Amino acid sequence: MTDLVFENVRIKYGSGNSAHEVVRGVSLIVPAGRTVGLVGESGSGKSTLARAAVGLHEPYAGRILIDGIDIVKAQGTAAALRRDIQMVFQDANSCLNPRMSVGASIEEALAVRGKFARRDRAQRRIEVANLLELVELDPARSRDLPMQLSGGQRQRVAIARALAAEPRVLLADEITSALDVSVQGTVLNLLMRVQRSLNLTVLFISHNLAVVRQLCDEVAVMKDGEVVEAGTGTHVIDDPQHPYTRELIRAIPRIGIPLFDEGANS
Ligand SMILES: Nc1ncnc2c1ncn2[C@@H]1O[C@H](COP(=O)(O)OP(=O)(O)O)[C@@H](O)[C@H]1O
Ligand SMILES: [Mg+2]
Repeated sequence: MTDLVFENVRIKYGSGNSAHEVVRGVSLIVPAGRTVGLVGESGSGKSTLARAAVGLHEPYAGRILIDGIDIVKAQGTAAALRRDIQMVFQDANSCLNPRMSVGASIEEALAVRGKFARRDRAQRRIEVANLLELVELDPARSRDLPMQLSGGQRQRVAIARALAAEPRVLLADEITSALDVSVQGTVLNLLMRVQRSLNLTVLFISHNLAVVRQLCDEVAVMKDGEVVEAGTGTHVIDDPQHPYTRELIRAIPRIGIPLFDEGANS
């Protein structure tokens, strides 16, 4: 079980006069085996913060720790630990090669772990089938190209690909925002089931507070690169203290998405 800790993280884009600080000293703990929701309006720095945890941005100050080890510099032990964090993005196409079959994409991600690299092809195929089953897709789909799948199915493949690296921490960045409302619930249900069965530590980024309230043990609210409020859903969403959180809550649509619909694969 693995904690993910952000300690006073600062990230800027650009340099010199054009430098723009978009994460301005964020401290956040995602406790081992828990799901923390990160909410806030578009542009508040949520994605930038998460991307830094998988090495896509380098903070110029602060630390990002897994089990107490700073992964920003990512050398030696820290570099190995980095594989323990995987990210799923809003757009599944960003991680799937359009010319590569679904199975080949997942197999490629398996190779990250040495034990699969050494195994033979047949064993990797079995592991790919297991991963597809884990995300509730028919293993026969492994021969399909991404374009032959629906948006919801592609996002399941993206989740399977992330899980292929056997992460202990999963960052989910608006993973249902690009999907039809009718399939958002099934993908979120899948994520929750996987989180529980693998005991993953999850940072769940969303602008939908209603979903976060249902899914997450704790919630952090980000505004202009800072966390303005954090705590349990009961505290933050049911009894918000910060005016910005109140504003976000007023914007929750009355009719939620069908979260607990255990419908067919989508
Ligand atoms: N690659 C980039 N280069 C420069 N500015 C960026 C880049 N990515 C995001 N930004 C800016 O950083 C700020 C935070 O963006 P982002 O982290 O994507 O926020 P969020 O995920 O909360 O919508 C925004 O003002 C955005 O325009
Ligand atoms: Mg974002």
